[in-house]
Amino acid sequence: MKKIMIINGPNLNLLGTREVDIYGNISFESYLKNLKKKYSKVDIDFFQSNIEGELIDKIQEVGFSYDGIVLNAAAYTHTSVGISDSIAAISSAVIEVHISNIHAREEFRSKSLISKNVKGIICGFGLKSYDLAIDSIIYK
Ligand code: DQA
Repeated sequence: MKKIMIINGPNLNLLGTREVDIYGNISFESYLKNLKKKYSKVDIDFFQSNIEGELIDKIQEVGFSYDGIVLNAAAYTHTSVGISDSIAAISSAVIEVHISNIHAREEFRSKSLISKNVKGIICGFGLKSYDLAIDSIIYK
């Protein structure tokens, strides 16, 4: 069974109530329940933190044993050399995802410090971005 870790960064714990016009009105917990049903043959784990170092700890912890990491680093995408370096340090494939199209928003969001070290990037498809990232790991 393939093992995939979904890691969400800061403020994504507020999905469903946070800026619903951009991020939608579905909580990640309810989305995750359906995702696990849809991919019943995949072992999907989930971690969320608002703290940069905790995200790095989790990337290091799973980054040598999981088949893939689906990472929405949220605001840290645009600022974190530490997260970018942690991705470079591990062997699992990391797929960068964003719910919104970061290139169609404020200028500062179009710059990702992590893109250089990931396998691929999916953004702009709402929560479906996560489905597409999982597909990219399991159908390769
Ligand atoms: C986000 C885009 C980021 O710019 C933002 O800081 C987020 C969420 C997205 O999923 O669209 O928190 O990563």
